[in-house]
Amino acid sequence: MANTVLVGAQWGDEGKGKIIDFLTEEVDIVVRSQGGNNAGHTVITGDKKYVLHLIPSGILRPGKTCVIGNGVVLDPVSLVEEIEGLRAAKIKVGKNLLISDCAHLVLPYHRLLDQARETAKGKQKIGTTKRGIGPTYADKAFRVGLRMGDLMQPELFSQKLAARIKENNAVLKAYGAKPISFKQVNEAYLAAGEKLRPFVTNTVVFLHHALKQEKEMLFEGAQGTFLDIDHGTYPYVTSSNTTAGGACTGSGVPPHRIDRVLGVMKAYTTRVGEGPFPTEDRGLGEMLHGMGREFGATTGRARRCGWFDAVATRFAGMVNGIDDIAITNLDGLDTVETIRVCVGYQKGRKKIEVPPSDFRQLADCEPVYIEMPGWQAPTTEARSFDTLPANAQAYALKIAGLTGGRLAIVSVGAHRDQTILL
Ligand code: IMP
Ligand code: MG
Repeated sequence: MANTVLVGAQWGDEGKGKIIDFLTEEVDIVVRSQGGNNAGHTVITGDKKYVLHLIPSGILRPGKTCVIGNGVVLDPVSLVEEIEGLRAAKIKVGKNLLISDCAHLVLPYHRLLDQARETAKGKQKIGTTKRGIGPTYADKAFRVGLRMGDLMQPELFSQKLAARIKENNAVLKAYGAKPISFKQVNEAYLAAGEKLRPFVTNTVVFLHHALKQEKEMLFEGAQGTFLDIDHGTYPYVTSSNTTAGGACTGSGVPPHRIDRVLGVMKAYTTRVGEGPFPTEDRGLGEMLHGMGREFGATTGRARRCGWFDAVATRFAGMVNGIDDIAITNLDGLDTVETIRVCVGYQKGRKKIEVPPSDFRQLADCEPVYIEMPGWQAPTTEARSFDTLPANAQAYALKIAGLTGGRLAIVSVGAHRDQTILL
């Protein structure tokens, strides 16, 4: 299947985890290149449900190697918990997992600062997952971050940690938050570090050897295009490059070795956290929540819901170079009588074709909708495109066409077999 970068074309939670799990069957290596445990991928295999935060979902398939690349930020303590949870469920985690020695560590002060800064922002809060992701990437850019490689050198790690805790305790104090105990953090992190030692390596070298051997790779994106730190609805974004380019910088695999970009998008739109959302629709949200859908895998928050926004996904197509498209959650619209699709924005008297980069301007945009007839029949049993109701086929082709890619996959449920290949 060649080397594929998989990205979310919306605001995250596009159902990437399931598509990744499905595609993993055809590749040798799955690479995670950005984000941290702010992500949550839900994968259902048989009657088992797994929620993964840091480890690529490829871990669920025997014989696949999973790589946590240099662009990821990770909390070693929660990574150990994730590994132990998988092992308790009889999933093998050993030589099939590699962690970059350049991945930055999320430390308790990052989490506390994330919370303190959100609280201080009041109404202007971003609505982060409070996992400390932003402060960790900020420290990376500030060049004061601690990396996996530091944790592998206990003495060095403790020295650096002591200095970082001293400084961050002063900052926490200024926010009125409690200081952190060096001893506790040092012990917990060093213990987790020892458990992670067998996995830690120079993953760039591993990936280059694999490329030479013509191994096939899947780069699994976390979050989505509009949460990208550069291209998203700044400042209501996450702190990494969630778009296709992030796969290269976050793994050390050069751009010319990427063969294909697959964009994953829901048949409608959702977002969690604050920030503009032109097609948000309360009625649609109530319906989806009533079906038990659209609650966050990481924080349990009810996601905001709205109609499909083709202005947004067309831009996602541009930024990521989307070749192929996977549409997920088509079955979420099974009962809708008339489906709306946003094909443009209106701002005052002006027609707008691309999302404005300024979030205030985006918030002022009114969606221009076309309407399509719903199919009002269950799609969950369909296993081929031509057995989908005609209106469902038309809808899927329409939104893929508006986005500007080839429709390659349609997902009609959370299970592996509820996946239609075109
Ligand atoms: P952070 O990544 O925790 O800093 O949160 C920044 C923004 O990204 C918030 O709006 C979060 O809700 C959003 N976000 C972060 N990770 C995910 C994800 O995996 N799915 C959906 N939204 C996310
Ligand atoms: Mg998610």
